[in-house]
Amino acid sequence: MRILAIESSCDETAAAVVQDGRTVLSNEVLSQADMHALYGGVVPEIASRNHITVISRLCDEAVRKAGISKKELDAVAVTCAPGLIGALLVGVNFAKAAALALGIPLIPVHHVRGHIAANYIAFPELEPPFVCLAISGGNTVIVDVRGYTDMEIIGATRDDAAGECFDKAARVLGLPYPGGKPMQELAQGGDDRAYRLPRAKIDDHPYDMSFSGLKTAVVNLVHNARQKGEELDRPGLAASFAAAVSDTLVPRTMSACADLGYDRIVVAGGVAANARIRADFEKAAKKAGKELFVPPLSLCGDNAAMIGCQGYYEYLAGARADSSLNAWATLEISAPIPV
Ligand code: KG4
Repeated sequence: MRILAIESSCDETAAAVVQDGRTVLSNEVLSQADMHALYGGVVPEIASRNHITVISRLCDEAVRKAGISKKELDAVAVTCAPGLIGALLVGVNFAKAAALALGIPLIPVHHVRGHIAANYIAFPELEPPFVCLAISGGNTVIVDVRGYTDMEIIGATRDDAAGECFDKAARVLGLPYPGGKPMQELAQGGDDRAYRLPRAKIDDHPYDMSFSGLKTAVVNLVHNARQKGEELDRPGLAASFAAAVSDTLVPRTMSACADLGYDRIVVAGGVAANARIRADFEKAAKKAGKELFVPPLSLCGDNAAMIGCQGYYEYLAGARADSSLNAWATLEISAPIPV
């Protein structure tokens, strides 16, 4: 079964063709990051307009690179939640038109389920159940993945997502958007104990997280140093910041895995590209005797191959949408898509 998959939930326009869930025939991603860098973050209106400009060409390119004709497509899968509503609607409306014109089924896909599915592409042997930490610019959740389409959030950030926290810390340090990679580069060779930064805990909710205090601590530290004319240890601050984020994410995911009695830990999303977080997970998983799955960097960020993969499993579970499909800025990962 060949699925044309479309992703447009934020500032990447992406189209892919995926065969039988796990074989990626093409995977086209067009990032708008440069256009948003000027503003220090994603401008929703600019994102929507750029999706409109490129989506048709990108889908054609994905089909061409897959080496098939449009008539050989069996279904269209599209991200319909969560994300920027205007941006999502571009992908959803294009997908509706494509499915209608080709006379094939339309499959709605949850974006974070897609991030988790990126691991099925990278690791053909991986199957649920497992615990997954999904960390991106807009989401930070620990998920009990019981089956391909049966999952439940057991822990989440109460405020900022981990990626958003990286981006804001980078901005105050004068680094470009998106800030995760520049922060990682700055941290190289830095002392991760140079600054004492907070690691928040939520009473009685051991898997929940909070990043807003960490973000404020970095902003205050930088502003205070500027006002006093003091020199900052920038690599030390970036390394201390990465350590604080990792210390928040890794132990919670490890305990969730132990408490659920699973052998496998999966990490997903743009922030899964972070070297410190990857290294800490490797150490922790080895110590606990758990199997760790972290996708290659190319599948960490937003892409459409992951939507095609998850779309396949949603299709097998009976998910279908028609021309009335809407988009949702927020939607629980375990909730059925309201079609
Ligand atoms: O998954 P993604 O591409 O988009 C969303 O669905 O949000 O994640 C983007 C986020 C951004 O906040 C970006 O700064 C962060 O992933 N990111 C990183 C790294 N590479 C990307 N964060 C930390 N370290 C990295 N190496």
